[in-house]
Amino acid sequence: MKTNDVKRITVVGAGQMGHQIAMLCALGGYQTTLQDINQEALQKAESNLERLMSDWVKKGKLEESAKEKAFSLLTYTQQLEEAAKDADLVIEAIVEVLEVKQELFKKLDRITPSHTILATNSSTIMNSLIASVTERPENVCNMHFFFPPLVMDSVEVVMSEETSEETAETVMEVCRKINRTAILLRKEIPGFVANRILGAIHREATFLYEEGIASFEDIDLIVKKSLGHKLGPFELIDLSGADVVYAAMTHQYEESGDERERPPACIKEKVDKGELGRKTGVGFYDCRQEAVK
Ligand SMILES: NC(=O)c1ccc[n+]([C@@H]2O[C@H](COP(=O)([O-])OP(=O)(O)OC[C@H]3O[C@@H](n4cnc5c(N)ncnc54)[C@H](O)[C@@H]3O)[C@@H](O)[C@H]2O)c1
Repeated sequence: MKTNDVKRITVVGAGQMGHQIAMLCALGGYQTTLQDINQEALQKAESNLERLMSDWVKKGKLEESAKEKAFSLLTYTQQLEEAAKDADLVIEAIVEVLEVKQELFKKLDRITPSHTILATNSSTIMNSLIASVTERPENVCNMHFFFPPLVMDSVEVVMSEETSEETAETVMEVCRKINRTAILLRKEIPGFVANRILGAIHREATFLYEEGIASFEDIDLIVKKSLGHKLGPFELIDLSGADVVYAAMTHQYEESGDERERPPACIKEKVDKGELGRKTGVGFYDCRQEAVK
């Protein structure tokens, strides 16, 4: 498939990620279908997107005519076959469970034309594990957006050993057209690039704290002042949720078996105590009183 041949995109999964990815595709001029097995999720997606895009128009970030054009390109359905039968690219954004994703990719492999690229937005599952259930591993890759996709200008496109150059180039071109900065990973690695670097920062920050070298507040302070980060590592853990950070680190540790990647005790302790950060009101900081700086 040539890079300019993508005309129709189907996004499967209308949750936190999928509905906004579909909006980006429609804003980029693609005929876009958003599919979900759950009708409520589709309704929520539609009303959320109407609200978000109206806000963009009010703030002068989007012309009313561009908003109308994008919505005219976007349709919602529960029917997978109807959604995917003419797609040139499918972006999967369903639950993070390998077997469920494999089941979906088997169906997509059957429903879609042979040229269709099948991309997964998974944060932790490498595409080769999903591609293996299809007859077209050369057309499969990760297309990893960051939360929330309408705000975060970044995508990691990940090739497996079997992903073709043409697939990678086509997906990179789609990223350009939907106005997202993309990087290409030529090999699979758990955590990809951004989350690996974030994990390394979390590991070092928690090591310094656990060793009693400095308080977590001071570690955050120096990271912000000297490295120019907007948030310190402990503020970021509170913002993301200690449970989410712990799960991501555990997954990476289990994949690699590398002792240096064992999740830090102080994060596990926060999870065990239910002090997850902003979502529970207390984490490393008391988030009820002190807003994250
Ligand atoms: N949330 C994040 O911060 C984030 C960031 C990057 C990537 N991701 C990845 O994106 C994917 C989706 O995450 P999310 O946070 O949007 O999840 P979510 O739980 O908000 O949404 C998942 C949606 O998929 C639907 N779904 C489940 N099974 C389906 C099926 N077989 N067919 C069609 N729809 C189905 C559900 O009804 C739900 O609406 C995951 O793979 C996750 O790793 C998430």
